Amino acid sequence: MTSESFQPIKGMADLAPPAIYLWQRLEETTRDILARYAFDEVRTPVMERTAVFKRSLGDTTDVVQKEMYSFTDRGGRDLSLRPEGTAGVIRHVAGSGQAAQDARLYYIGPMFRSERPQAGRYRQFHQLGVESIGAPCPAADAEVIALQAHVLSAWGLKDFRMELNTRGLPEDRQRVADGLRAALEPDLDRLCEDCRRRYAQNPLRILDCKNAACRDIADRLPPVTEFMSAEARTYLKEVISLLERLEIPVTENPRLVRGLDYYVHTVWEITHAGLGSQDALSGGGRYALTFGNQTIEGVGFAMGLERIITALTGQGLDPGSLAKPPSVWLISQGAAAFDENLVLMQSLRLRGVSCAMDLRGRSMKAQMRAANRANSRYVVIRGDHEMEQGTFQLKNMADGVQEELDMPELMQRLTSGTDRVCPDTEEEE
Ligand code: HAM
Repeated sequence: MTSESFQPIKGMADLAPPAIYLWQRLEETTRDILARYAFDEVRTPVMERTAVFKRSLGDTTDVVQKEMYSFTDRGGRDLSLRPEGTAGVIRHVAGSGQAAQDARLYYIGPMFRSERPQAGRYRQFHQLGVESIGAPCPAADAEVIALQAHVLSAWGLKDFRMELNTRGLPEDRQRVADGLRAALEPDLDRLCEDCRRRYAQNPLRILDCKNAACRDIADRLPPVTEFMSAEARTYLKEVISLLERLEIPVTENPRLVRGLDYYVHTVWEITHAGLGSQDALSGGGRYALTFGNQTIEGVGFAMGLERIITALTGQGLDPGSLAKPPSVWLISQGAAAFDENLVLMQSLRLRGVSCAMDLRGRSMKAQMRAANRANSRYVVIRGDHEMEQGTFQLKNMADGVQEELDMPELMQRLTSGTDRVCPDTEEEE
């Protein structure tokens, strides 16, 4: 095997210590917050029938046209790895008969897009997404936007910016397309090749183009809301005024369209200045998706966890500082002490104490080195003297103080006394 064979596929990454400590911390904090907002977790498969995504995200979107990992399986079915989470969640809701009720669901998991990898853009990345289904009103939009701001603040993220716009109603689409075509016509020759195609198929997508010349042209277009119904404009105003009442700062951006076509009414995006060109941390909006004879309306968002992690580490957060080393490390001299320590280790673990020991029966010196590396708060030493006396040396690694204790004293100290290290009694950080 070449050293390259040990690397994951380009654009995909192993998530391992120390970075994983930060992933775990984010997930723990978020699950706690989501429970406060009465959202339940859903886990849908990473693979779906391709039609689930094509119909939901829109045929003319970049994700569907260029970025899906699609293939035909042995049974002749057209399948794709999920490029995002909303379509699968709504497929689940439509199939489980919850559509008539309010469903409040969240998901955390890998998504796949066959994009050109670069900093902040991966082929496997992770989203934390939320979908609030069944309350077609501005209050539901404001609630999930507030939830999103709450989660980002709880993670300690600073300097993020939320921009908001509307995609209008489905009935507005034709008028928006016609209005944009008329406004773009004088500059048609200056648009990039992709945008000339978009001009015919879906001119709204031109507002999303990254090409400098196209951006320049898009910047001079009238705001899309100008082509929309009064209902769409009123809805947006209501969402903004509710957000003001909830003290969530947002900026209106009339150019914001989002890259997916299932949106109606509110859309938003959160960016972070420290992230360079791939600066979108999160995006969301209200949508209507049709599965069979059901049209399901919802509002939600998805955050890109890799980008959040990059932003947090850029702020100086060291994932290594979030490691949870074993509280106690056991050291034994000789085979009998080793056997007794194995029993003690199990007994401490059953009482809620995290502990570990060297399992290879190495020298006291090697065990001490391992204990130092493990960074545990206490070391319990059982040498020949202690075996004879039926005692233990308890060493506090922070101050080096060492005491000789018998078994009841040791148990008492580690599980309920002044040196207790059971998780439920540990001090809050
Ligand atoms: P999206 O804007 O396509 O929306 O993706 C959401 C977030 O996923 C982005 O803001 C970004 O942080 C992250 N992301 C997207 N592509 C990549 C990539 N290639 N590498 C790293 N991170 C990436 C959606 O997926 C919608 N389903 C959001 C939604 C939920 N709307 C309503 N409900």
